[in-house]
Amino acid sequence: METTYDMRIIGLPDGLKQAVKERDLPLDVAVQLVKMHNPFVNQKMVQIINRKKKYEKDLLKNALAAVAKSKNMRKKLNLLKKTAEEGIILSSVWEFGNRDNYAGDSNFHGNAPTQVVEQCVLRLTKNGDSVVDPMAGSGTTIDVCKAHQRKIKAFDLTPTRKDIIENDSRHIPVATLSTDLVFLHPPYLDMVRYSSKSEDVSKLSLDEFLESMRNILMESQRILNKDGHLCILIGDLVRKGKFISLSRRLSVICEEIGLEDCGYAVKITKDSVSQRRRGKAIYAELATTNNLKQNHDVVLFWKK
Ligand SMILES: C[S@@+](CC[C@H](N)C(=O)[O-])C[C@H]1O[C@@H](n2cnc3c(N)ncnc32)[C@H](O)[C@@H]1O
Repeated sequence: METTYDMRIIGLPDGLKQAVKERDLPLDVAVQLVKMHNPFVNQKMVQIINRKKKYEKDLLKNALAAVAKSKNMRKKLNLLKKTAEEGIILSSVWEFGNRDNYAGDSNFHGNAPTQVVEQCVLRLTKNGDSVVDPMAGSGTTIDVCKAHQRKIKAFDLTPTRKDIIENDSRHIPVATLSTDLVFLHPPYLDMVRYSSKSEDVSKLSLDEFLESMRNILMESQRILNKDGHLCILIGDLVRKGKFISLSRRLSVICEEIGLEDCGYAVKITKDSVSQRRRGKAIYAELATTNNLKQNHDVVLFWKK
């Protein structure tokens, strides 16, 4: 049915006119209100209409935000499911059972726990990404990367197997901006002497060690892609009764060369090769000082 336009609406003040148009007020009532000659009524109507408009706008904005949030949340929950399926630990304390011996050599003095390398590789790379280990030792990183379909290039000053390239990693023979993850597991100063070669960083004084590590860290940074990650597995130590925090010293260098700090994980040490070999002698040494036995390593995370 066609509705005829009621001319009475034309003479109404703005607020009442709007209220009638939006069907908040019957026209007859509006006409009566005008007859009362009370400008306050019109003003109140304008306020109510504006408030209603704002409320509706907020309602729409909130509804849209809720939809976006739930979409994001779904994406996050899917990611969480994927990390759980892959066994990725999302907290900063890592404690594993026995070393998983499919990777590297469990008898290599100073090997990395397989599970530590796995956590870094799985969390920070995806299938087909490229990983570099500049100090590969017994090749733990190689085997982890192969098991998880990552490309791997491994170097060491004293290679223990054919798939490790002999190299002094103060220069890394890898193209600039070509690597998604560098996994770096340097000697803990002189804790283990790896060789008698003059380039071996385990033979150096603390200052020389840090200088060499600066070169290796800068090389790692150079070969990383933008947003690529560097993981450093390192432990602190006590020498001649003095605590030496290698993790802090290396962190200072990483900061100085402009890497972005992404935090660290603490890996509880369990039955390391050196512990097996030296047994209680380690504790006997510390009993005469105020130092603690270092029962953890740290994994430092940095981003280019
Ligand atoms: C802690 S071990 C790495 C262990 C390894 N992540 C594994 O799981 O077997 C450190 C390694 O650094 C190597 N290294 C020492 N100085 C080096 C240098 N200048 N360039 C390259 N590798 C070096 C040693 O030969 C040793 O194998």
